[in-house]
Amino acid sequence: MTVIPELIEGFMNESIIGRAQKKGIAEIHIHNLRDYSTDRHRKVDDYPFGGFAGMVMKCQPIDDCIAALKAERDYDEIIFTTPDGQQFDQPMANELSLKKNIIILCGHYKGVDYRIREHLITKEVSIGDFVLTGGELAAACMTDAIVRVLPGAIGDEQSALSDSFQDNLLAAPVYTRPADYKGWQVPDILLSGHEAKIKDWELQQAIERTQRLRPDLLKK
Ligand code: ADE
Repeated sequence: MTVIPELIEGFMNESIIGRAQKKGIAEIHIHNLRDYSTDRHRKVDDYPFGGFAGMVMKCQPIDDCIAALKAERDYDEIIFTTPDGQQFDQPMANELSLKKNIIILCGHYKGVDYRIREHLITKEVSIGDFVLTGGELAAACMTDAIVRVLPGAIGDEQSALSDSFQDNLLAAPVYTRPADYKGWQVPDILLSGHEAKIKDWELQQAIERTQRLRPDLLKK
């Protein structure tokens, strides 16, 4: 649910997310909140009580849109994207990928009337400690991360499981041909054909890179 569907339409219909939909692995519908506004100018925002600066998303279009969606399906989560939400991460992506139906409400302007958050939203999610102009990019990031772990969404099912963060380790480096590019060499071990030694190298690299770049992950 968004006030600027154009921001995410292209993204949702391209690449892995687009292909997952064509394969029937995921189904994504973008709802324009203006279509649900009863205002004759299709207004979705208004001035905040208390004389604060900025505009606030009104209850009515959001409430009516959610009601219309709930009339068609049951929803496991109604998520609001907001910088003060719970930090999105790989475990949350995995968990959400197991749900059947999810609504994501993209925040905009100064925020959304707090009563929506109190009465309708089941989960508030942030994609990081920075402020975006709107929740659309956050919704796109979350959708991407959720859909790509669905079985069949990416070619090699193994590869979603071996991603960085799936085991709280960063991924090992990868290389492709040629083995020597301008004198830049691929590690010999990868050319050795010793499967067990290569697996061992991969794990050592993952541990070393995590220690060096993200020691906080090792504590998890
Ligand atoms: N909306 C604005 N900033 C955001 C963030 N960091 N995460 C989620 N939604 C947002």
